[in-house]
Parts: sequence; C-alpha cells; structure tokens
Amino acid sequence: MSYPVLRPRRLRLTKAIRDIVAETRVLPSDFIMPVFVKEGGGKEPIEAMPGQYRLPVGDELVRLVGRGLELGVKAVLLFGVVPDAVKDETGSAAYDPNGVVQRAVRLLRREFGEDVVVFTDVCLCGYTRHGHCGLPVEPIKRRGMRGRFIENDETLKLIARIAVSHAEAGADFVAPSGMMDGMVSAIRAALDKEGYSDVGIMSYAVKYCSGFYGPFREAMSSAPRFGDRRSYQMDPRNAYEALKEARLDVEEGADILMVKPALAYLDVIRLVKNYFTEYPLAAYNVSGEYSMVKAAAEKGWIDERRVVMEILTAIKRAGADLIITYHALDAAEWIREGYDPF
Ligand code: PBG
Repeated sequence: MSYPVLRPRRLRLTKAIRDIVAETRVLPSDFIMPVFVKEGGGKEPIEAMPGQYRLPVGDELVRLVGRGLELGVKAVLLFGVVPDAVKDETGSAAYDPNGVVQRAVRLLRREFGEDVVVFTDVCLCGYTRHGHCGLPVEPIKRRGMRGRFIENDETLKLIARIAVSHAEAGADFVAPSGMMDGMVSAIRAALDKEGYSDVGIMSYAVKYCSGFYGPFREAMSSAPRFGDRRSYQMDPRNAYEALKEARLDVEEGADILMVKPALAYLDVIRLVKNYFTEYPLAAYNVSGEYSMVKAAAEKGWIDERRVVMEILTAIKRAGADLIITYHALDAAEWIREGYDPF
C-alpha cells in the first residue's frame, strides 16, 4: 500500500502566496483603545502597565486620541480615575455631570466630532471606597453568609444613572462592566426614557473573575477592599454559561457583546461568536495580558512586535470583531510602517 504525499506546504512557500490565502487580517479599525482619564495634574505612568498613563482631561488626551485617529484607530474606551478622597459608598463621582469621564467625552466630542467612537466604562468599582461593582449590604444571615453581600437591584439604579450621564455628555456607547443581573435592560430603559435611544450598549456580557485584571486595579486603585468579585463575575471553569449571559444581554438590548479576558478564553470567544453570529463581538485583551508581554519583552525574552501581532491575530481568528487592547496604538503604528510577522 502506498500513501500519496499531499502538500499543504505549497500554500506556504512564499510570502505573497501566504498573504493571498491568509484567513485573518488585523486592521487598526478593529481596535478599541482603552484610556485612563483623571482630574487635573500631570500625566502619570502606570507602573504595572509600561507605556500606559493616567491622563488629565486636556491636550495630551487630545493628542493621544488624535494620533490614534491618524493611524485608523477610531474608537476609545474611557475609564475615570478619581482620588480616594472623592470616593464614597455609592460612587457618586461616577454620575457627576462634571465628572472626569463626562468632561473627557465632551472634550473629545468638541475636538473630533463624529470621527471618534467614544465608549465609556460604566461601573462603581473605581468610584467607591469599598471597590466593589455593586452596593455592599448586610450578609444574608439565613444562608449562613459571613461577608457582606453585593446587592443587585439598587445597584442597577446607580448604573443607569451613570450611563445616562455619559450619554448626556455625548458618548456613542456605554459599556457596563459590573456583571450585575439586568444591567443592560436597566440602562436601555433609562437611556430611552431620557431621550438617548441613539446611544448604544456594549455589554461586558461574558466577564470572568480573573487574576489578569491585577495591573488595571493598580491603575484605577479599584481593587475590592474586602472579599472578592466571585459572586458576580463568572467562574473561569464555565464556557456554556457564557451563552446564557450573552443571550440575556441580547434579549435586554445589548448592541455589542464582549468576552473578557481574551487570551485564556479564546474558546469562549469562538463559542459566543458561533451562537450570536449576527452581533458584533468585542474581546478585551486585558491589563495582565498586556503586562505579561511587556515584562517578557523588557527582559529580552520575546520579540514584542511579533508576539503582539500574533496575539491580536489569534483573538480575531477566534471570532472577535473588535479588540479592546492597550497595544492598539503601537500595533497601529507597526501596521502603518508595514510590519508584518507572517
Ligand atoms: C471594572 C473593570 C475591570 C476591568 C475593566 N472594567 C476590572 C475588574 O473587574 O476588577 C479590567 C480591565 C483590565 O484588566 O484591563 N469593573
């Protein structure tokens, strides 16, 4: 018996051949660039995220977003950083009409009009003293619970209020990240009621309770001061549960779905894309994923550009239409320069 030699290598022989048969292409317009904005003062480097800064609402922010637009990065995701002294139990700084995110949105709108797509993160954790994404209340004693319980339905009212204030400032999409049940319908109802039916929702529909958020929590000083987020963020052991979370958010009116983190959850990205093909899917290449690459590159252990392009390609190949990534500007620069590791 003789076996034929079939030759897939023919399609890999030259760069030009590989390029014409490539299934996945990463473009700057796939990226959403996360930006940390803060009240006044100077720009502050974020130690655990080399190359990322907390920027005051001002010229540097305009320059950064402007550079992105020149390179084809059309979207930003804003996170507000406030001093501990401003934090309270309910996160009231988050819905202050003159809060840091609201002012940043207005500034970007004034500078770039409709050319920029502005997403805003909607959550309590960066604005509350306790650092949770919902309101802590007494433990449910009847269940033998010891630590405080993160309440759901009162939290929704606050989340809706934050979202409306971002819409009022001119956001295109609000992005609730707190994993509260019903957050999308609460926001949709509030936006519609206040006359913002044009403002969309990108839901952090499938958000896992992950160790990869460590550097972000340093950037925002938003780590929970007691307990953890396991009672609201998803268990990393579950994949099919992602379909439930995605379906509920679709039914509640989400326009764009998200899976987060990205790299350890490529299977989940694929699963959600296969079941909810008609909804744009974003994947969040989170802080810890970014910092691991940066740390290894600083030590000279990996080729940063090559690894970053491979990671972004993998996330897109897995089914993401949009990639929220701290590498956005660098990757867009490399693409502009014609860098291509494949
Ligand atoms: C807040 C929020 C988190 C991130 C985005 N929004 C962290 C968390 O849940 O603690 C993480 C982003 C990142 O790690 O890059 N709800």
